[in-house]
Amino acid sequence: MSAKVSRRQLAKIAGLSAAGIASPLEGAGAKPAAALRGGSGGFPAGFLWGTATSSYQVEGAVNEDGRGASIWDKFVRIPGKIEDSSTGDRANEHYHRYKEDIALIKDLGCKAYRFSVAWPRVFPDGDGKPNPKGIDFYNRLVDELLKNGIEPWMTLYHWDLPQSLQDRFGGWRSTETCKIFGDYAGYVAKHLTDRVKNVFTLNESGRFVQFGYGLGIDAPGVTLPQAEVNQIRHNSALAHGLAVQAVRAHGRRGTRVGPAENIDVCVPAIDTPEHVRAAEIALREMNAGYLNVIMTGKYTDAFLKYAGADAPKYTDAELKIIGSPVDFLGLNIYAPQNYVVPSDQGAGFMPLPIPKSFPHMSSDWLRIAPETIYWVPKLAAKIWKTDAIYITENGTSSDDVVTPDGKIYDTDRIMYLRNYLAQLQRATAEGVPVRGYFLWSLMDNFEWVFGLSKRFGLYHVNFDTQVRTPKLSASFYRNVIAKNAAGA
Ligand code: BG6
Repeated sequence: MSAKVSRRQLAKIAGLSAAGIASPLEGAGAKPAAALRGGSGGFPAGFLWGTATSSYQVEGAVNEDGRGASIWDKFVRIPGKIEDSSTGDRANEHYHRYKEDIALIKDLGCKAYRFSVAWPRVFPDGDGKPNPKGIDFYNRLVDELLKNGIEPWMTLYHWDLPQSLQDRFGGWRSTETCKIFGDYAGYVAKHLTDRVKNVFTLNESGRFVQFGYGLGIDAPGVTLPQAEVNQIRHNSALAHGLAVQAVRAHGRRGTRVGPAENIDVCVPAIDTPEHVRAAEIALREMNAGYLNVIMTGKYTDAFLKYAGADAPKYTDAELKIIGSPVDFLGLNIYAPQNYVVPSDQGAGFMPLPIPKSFPHMSSDWLRIAPETIYWVPKLAAKIWKTDAIYITENGTSSDDVVTPDGKIYDTDRIMYLRNYLAQLQRATAEGVPVRGYFLWSLMDNFEWVFGLSKRFGLYHVNFDTQVRTPKLSASFYRNVIAKNAAGA
């Protein structure tokens, strides 16, 4: 099964069917002061502009300075798994070129950078003896960011699980891995939160659980029955909760922590009160297995009923950990999974089939729907009563070509960004508490199963020479940041 097809179908496979699901709605979310709202065509003052990458996708240097193996190091070597047979062995050589890359971030005018820590760099076996050279790299990275006036926003887990934990415990199949993750989170928090004020726990449980353990498309590449996948999703929620607690216990006071999740994107098909209400129910129920349980400490009745015998096994004590209060909600928003209409069946919503002709970007899965970044934060703020949402990823691939003049005119990426940012601005102007935006990605990098064949960067990377070249979209984004407005 191709990754593109699978990702497109993810909601259907992993989520809940609309039929038979009902859930009460929760009250309205907090509204920020009018003064914070973006007025007259701009974003609110102090809106945080950033870019994002992740360790395995950019660092390279997989065998240097005592780094242990991750499940991706092993997975990329299985024939047929990576579209162009590339690996992250070298990737962007960011481990060595981080200073040059930080200069690129600075040149955009970004005030923040979202990166992830490679767990096996810090603990080569996942647990046991830490590797001082591992944490040293992140010390250097953080210091260099701060020196350049860029806030470090750190993700603890962006899929590069230590292979040793996979070998010993079956990875996320075991709660041993969750506990060890908590210890690792505490260690990293202790060493870095004197300078890193914002921490994301796990990136996209919604993807790595289903793709890695259900469909076998991502590392570790196993295909387990749905009941086990549901248990692993529960374990990922537990790992999130343990990490929240560890950051609070070992980090500096005031360190903020929250998830960075590819929320299952549900939007009203039409802007009527009935459709909006249906989309709100859908957003909660389609995210019941991860986001809703971590934000509320409960699985919904509808989720448990739907999962039936496949529902995860858990204790009240685990739910308490999972529901540990967070400081913000990080949402990765790219494409719609479900356009929703009201239904008089079951829960009161029905996801519509998506026509084959629906437009998409260079990646087949990346359907173009700018309204997603308006509706999802708006509904999420209401459902989960949060007053701080960050868009932790948004962006697009493009079939970038370097023209004879040495430039990259990625007008399709600019079109995509302009339209999504206009909708995000619309949300902030209405008082939806979105506080910042991290564009995926700073530069082209190793795009998992697509290898180097899909380019998401504002900077083009020649992977032979490692030369970085700004695309036209880098100038576009610089202008957005300078004007603090989407219509740049
Ligand atoms: C997100 C991930 O799912 O989307 C990123 O958090 C990833 O790591 C990005 O690079 C694009 O996804 P893909 O599957 O096209 O590489």
